[in-house]
Amino acid sequence: METANLKSLMHDPDYYTKSFHAYAKSSKKFAVLEKWGENVFPKLIGDRLVDTLPADTNINMLGIGSGSGEMDSAMAASLKARFKSVRNVVIEPAAKQLEKYRSLVKSNKSDFEGIEFDLRQLGIDEYRSQEGDKPRKYHFISAIHSIYYAEDHKDTIRYLYDCLEEGGILLIIVVSVAGGFWRLWDRFTRFQDSVSRYLCTTHLRDSLSSLDIPFDESRQASCVDITSCFEEGSEDGELIIDFLSHTVDLRGSASPELYQEVVDYMGSDQCSERKEDGTILFNNDWDAVIVQKPLSKS
Ligand SMILES: C[S@@+](CC[C@H](N)C(=O)[O-])C[C@H]1O[C@@H](n2cnc3c(N)ncnc32)[C@H](O)[C@@H]1O
Repeated sequence: METANLKSLMHDPDYYTKSFHAYAKSSKKFAVLEKWGENVFPKLIGDRLVDTLPADTNINMLGIGSGSGEMDSAMAASLKARFKSVRNVVIEPAAKQLEKYRSLVKSNKSDFEGIEFDLRQLGIDEYRSQEGDKPRKYHFISAIHSIYYAEDHKDTIRYLYDCLEEGGILLIIVVSVAGGFWRLWDRFTRFQDSVSRYLCTTHLRDSLSSLDIPFDESRQASCVDITSCFEEGSEDGELIIDFLSHTVDLRGSASPELYQEVVDYMGSDQCSERKEDGTILFNNDWDAVIVQKPLSKS
C-alpha cells in the first residue's frame, strides 16, 4: 500500500489552515454554519439551556478546535443574548487560526459585549493533561469537526461529558456516514495515520451508546463545489483536494495513478453530484450530536 510519501495535514497546521479556508470558501461553510447558528442553534441548544439554567447564569463555554471562530463566536453571542454573561475558553492548536479568531473578535467588538474570550493554543489532549484530575466544568462544550483529532475519541467524549455542569450541553459535529468525506476516507484508508483517525456519526453513536449516554441528532445538508479540482492548474482546486484527502500536496506526493484514482473517486457519484452546467458538488452533509447532562434529582 502506498503511504510512505503521504503526509497528513495534521503534521502541518499552517498548510491545514490554508487548505481548510479554500475548502470553506467553496463549501460556503461559514454561510451554512451562520444560517444553522441563527435558525437551528437557538432551538437545539439555547432553548434547552434556558429551560434548565437560571437566566443570571454566567455561562462557561468551551470550544474545541474552534478554528477561526466564525461559528463559536456566533454561538457565544447567541447564548449571551439569553444569559447574564459568557466566558468562552477556546482550545485550538493552529496559530494562524487563532490569529484570525483574535482579529474577528477585535473587529466586531460591539457584537461581543459581555463575552470574555480566552484563546489558548493547544490541542484537546494537551488541554486534558494541563487540567489534571479536577478539570473545570462548563455549561456548553462544542467540538465542531474537531473530535477527529483527539487521540481517543470515545475517551474524549467520556471526559467532556464529565466536564459538563448539570444541565450542560455537549455539541459534537462530524461528517455523515453517507457524505463524500466519509466515503473518501473509508475507501482510501491509507490517508489515516497516527494523528488522523477518521470517524463519522456511526462511530459517535456507538461510542455514546456504549458509554450509556443518551443523545439527539440533527442532520444538515451541505455541499462543496469541487469543479476547480478538475481544472488544470487551479491552485484552489489542489488545496481543496488536499483538504478533502487530508494530505499535504497530494499531487506532489502520491503516484500519478493514486492521485488520479482519488480525484476520480471524489468526482464520482459515490461522493458527488454532477449538474447539467458542469458544476460538480461534493456531498458535505454533517450531523450534530447533542448530549445534555441531566440535573441531579434532589
Ligand atoms: C475542520 S476545522 C473546524 C474549525 C471550526 N470548528 C469550524 O467548524 O469552522 C478543525 C479544527 O480542529 C483543529 N485541531 C486540529 N487538531 C486538534 C486537536 N488535537 N485538538 C483540538 N483541535 C484540533 C484544527 O486546527 C482546525 O482548526
